Amino acid sequence: MDNSPLRVLTVPTFPYADQRPGTNGLRRKVHVFQSRRNYLHNFIQSIFSSIDLRDRQGSTVVVGGDGRFFNQTAIEVIVQMAAANGVGRLIVGHHGLMSTPACSCVIRKFKAIGGIILTASHNPAGPDGDLGIKFNTANGGPANDTVTNKIYQISRTIEEFAICPGLRLDLTTLGKQTFDLENKFKPFIVEIVDAVESYANLMRNIFDFAALKELLSGENHITIRLDAMHGVVGPYVKRILCEELGCPANSAVNCVPMEDFGGQCPDPNLIHAADLVDSMRDGEPDFGAAFDGDGDRNMILGKHGLFVSPSDSVAVIADNIFCIPYFQHRGVRGFARSMPTSAALDRVAKATKIELYETPTGWKFFGNLMDAGRLSLCGEESFGTSGDHIREKDGLWAALAWLSILATRRQSVEDILKYHWLKYGRNYYTRYDYENIDIDAACEMMEDLEIMIADKSFVKRRFAVEDKIYQVEKADNFEYTDPVDSSITRNQGLRINFSDGSRIIYRLSGTSSGGATVRIYLESYEKEHVFQETQVVLSPLATIAIKISQLHHRTGRTGPSVIT
Ligand code: G1P
Ligand code: ZN
Repeated sequence: MDNSPLRVLTVPTFPYADQRPGTNGLRRKVHVFQSRRNYLHNFIQSIFSSIDLRDRQGSTVVVGGDGRFFNQTAIEVIVQMAAANGVGRLIVGHHGLMSTPACSCVIRKFKAIGGIILTASHNPAGPDGDLGIKFNTANGGPANDTVTNKIYQISRTIEEFAICPGLRLDLTTLGKQTFDLENKFKPFIVEIVDAVESYANLMRNIFDFAALKELLSGENHITIRLDAMHGVVGPYVKRILCEELGCPANSAVNCVPMEDFGGQCPDPNLIHAADLVDSMRDGEPDFGAAFDGDGDRNMILGKHGLFVSPSDSVAVIADNIFCIPYFQHRGVRGFARSMPTSAALDRVAKATKIELYETPTGWKFFGNLMDAGRLSLCGEESFGTSGDHIREKDGLWAALAWLSILATRRQSVEDILKYHWLKYGRNYYTRYDYENIDIDAACEMMEDLEIMIADKSFVKRRFAVEDKIYQVEKADNFEYTDPVDSSITRNQGLRINFSDGSRIIYRLSGTSSGGATVRIYLESYEKEHVFQETQVVLSPLATIAIKISQLHHRTGRTGPSVIT
């Protein structure tokens, strides 16, 4: 065996103009990474170069991914580049796998300076699918705009990258591996860790596992069904729910991670998780949940597939927050939601006199508030919910939070939800997505809309549909001033607020890998009529939203690609 130190090479490269990270990292089709020379290397080098050399030398960095196609290939490159860039220790998930919440947990546990997560979340995977690269910082959360802008600026002028091409890693064996590098005194260390165990341990310290065990496998146990959609969270579900809390094996479905997620879109909503909804509809389970490819999103269902909207879910958890021991011990510092998420949470915040923050879309904005000790629980309408135990949204945590409420209240999901609406009134909520729209048409529509709503005469304008009249009360382009560091984030979505509390919001997605996705968010509040059909209640607002944006006319579409 050759024991000579590994060579560190500096390889010339040329920059790409399109490596600006979106809402949640850089997402591109796999073939972009495969066919464009050094496309991956450039971005990884830009990440490392964005970290001050003094912080990087000898530091600890975490690497993991959702197991999708190209995950392993990318990890091999990242490991070789980390070694060449002065990183002292890499913590890598067993087989290269780590859910996004586990990655956040591991970064914090090992006091790493950050982590590189390979995931395109719920986007399709496989040779024709997507790959994503996210960089999280030392707090365990997605890098903020200052950091991502720095990465992007470096990527635009990059001329070379450093790599240790001879470094070969064994991802299958847990434990430490050391490598000697030329011109380095200290060896480069890689630790392959059981991220499932680290994460499970965190959950044990948050929830009352004895009470959950009683709920799930005690004498009067309920029945549940959890769908991991062949994403990375399957082994976490198995370890925690089945092995530890005693759920029968058939409570956990699609729990074997697959490179292409079984050819499905691992997106936990009524469309993509239709199998779970169908199986619940006629089945016996009292509770259901689905998770996305990297395990940060969740969908909560009650018996017969009763859907709990994510905006309601976070509000219900907030209202029942002391069912979770973690919050009993630590207290509750604040609630937060992204701007397009419904105001159901605001009502709980108001009643409980807890501060509420409204942030731009994307989890990174919550992290600052949590680090400053101002935020305990937050959520997004896009099936994201979490507490301040980590700095990412956390799908399995949300399911365990709901199960903790069921264990304490011993009521059904339906009763809990209905009680909530009767207590607070109901924020009816839906989102229309128009995917793969021509980018120019989408931008033009947003520009025209902005001009229209900025006109003084727009306020007080009335729109009549069927027997309903909506009067504009306020309209703007959402802008956020971070209360912790005073940074300003502009251009976060066009909002039209009506005098009855209804809202229409337009936003362009920051996560699509091709074309533009236009999102329209519709919300209406009813104090008393809380048991109506969501789509019926919101249909007049939808008509107005489509009419004033001329969306169908501009794009040739006749309806949204997805309604959630
Ligand atoms: C979407 C969601 C957003 C979420 C993000 C990452 O971003 O809308 O809430 O944080 O995915 O999961 P968008 O495509 O809307 O920019
Ligand atoms: Zn995700």
